[in-house]
Amino acid sequence: MNVTVGGKTRHYRTVTFDAKKNAVLLIEQRLLPHQFKIVPMRDFRETAAGIRDMIVRGAGAIGATAAYGLAQGARAFRGNDLKKFSRHIETVYQTLKAARPTAVDPVNAMNGVRAIIQAGETVEEQQSLALAAAEDFANDDAQHCEAIGRHGAKLIRNGMRVLTHCNAGWLAFVDIGSATAPMYAAQAAGKKFHVFCDETRPRCQGATLTAWELAQQKISHQIIADNAAGHLMQRGEIDLVIVGSDRTLGRTGEVANKIGTYTKAVLAHRHKIPFYVAIPLSTIDWNMRSGFDIPIEERNESEVLGGWGMSGSKFQYTRIANPGSGARNPGFDVTPAELITGIITPEGIIKPRDLWKNRKKLGHA
Ligand code: MRU
Repeated sequence: MNVTVGGKTRHYRTVTFDAKKNAVLLIEQRLLPHQFKIVPMRDFRETAAGIRDMIVRGAGAIGATAAYGLAQGARAFRGNDLKKFSRHIETVYQTLKAARPTAVDPVNAMNGVRAIIQAGETVEEQQSLALAAAEDFANDDAQHCEAIGRHGAKLIRNGMRVLTHCNAGWLAFVDIGSATAPMYAAQAAGKKFHVFCDETRPRCQGATLTAWELAQQKISHQIIADNAAGHLMQRGEIDLVIVGSDRTLGRTGEVANKIGTYTKAVLAHRHKIPFYVAIPLSTIDWNMRSGFDIPIEERNESEVLGGWGMSGSKFQYTRIANPGSGARNPGFDVTPAELITGIITPEGIIKPRDLWKNRKKLGHA
């Protein structure tokens, strides 16, 4: 997407690769919206740390980062021994996979890269196939989001008020975003609408990232406290909900997404407000049979007990909670299929329980 920093507008992707330096380049999302900075991850362990520590976050973006990280690890290998190379690839894969557990995109992305490199007969061939496959994943991610926009834009009519949760914008993907794609496409079609961004405690991705993106894109929006959505729905002030997902089960239509999504889906159902989930194909898990099996990341309690922000020119953490109290911090929740009106995919809008029926079209081998 286009970013304007210091009066200059330029197109950026969230994740790119510097082949000369064998480095994964990431937007330092923890500093946004206060600073816009690109940082290099110089080896696969640093790339894994970038995912774990949320320099980069969001399903598609960490998928592309993991794919590039796998290529980066492959390209750092010295020698011609294919067996040793395969063992090394396994270490790189496991290190990147362990960085964050809930989103399935990194695993799907790396499985794709691993399958493609098998065609290489030498280490060198496999190394170059790995980078090409990672580039393909990143390009596909951007194309999927563009297609999501085309299909989803028709859901947004003039004058609508749209609620979104967390950040499933271009920062959470390589470009364009999933939940935001219909908004950007509707804007391009000349429609006028307003977006409510859930603040999304504890990390505040809605207040910091989605709001920044929408402001960059000049889309009318306001940040609301997470607890305000029910009130606005009850007063008829929300017409549509569009969120992203970190893992959507192809067999059941259950959707894992940022903590608080389930609550919003229950509220939307109660108020008969359409609730859509926008996903690229890499977010579909075709194997898991129950939402209860989705690994839910438990994050550090410090995120709940305080928050990060700017004080003058200093970016700092401030404790808010009662000293001595502890916290529980599950990062994601799972929304059942019956609360979801439709899944906006690059192949069209599909009922959550019909994903399995459409599996061929949706790329399941
Ligand atoms: O913890 P995060 O910020 O990596 O959470 C992931 C997300 O951005 C959200 O859950 C989002 O709604 C779906 S990912 C596109």
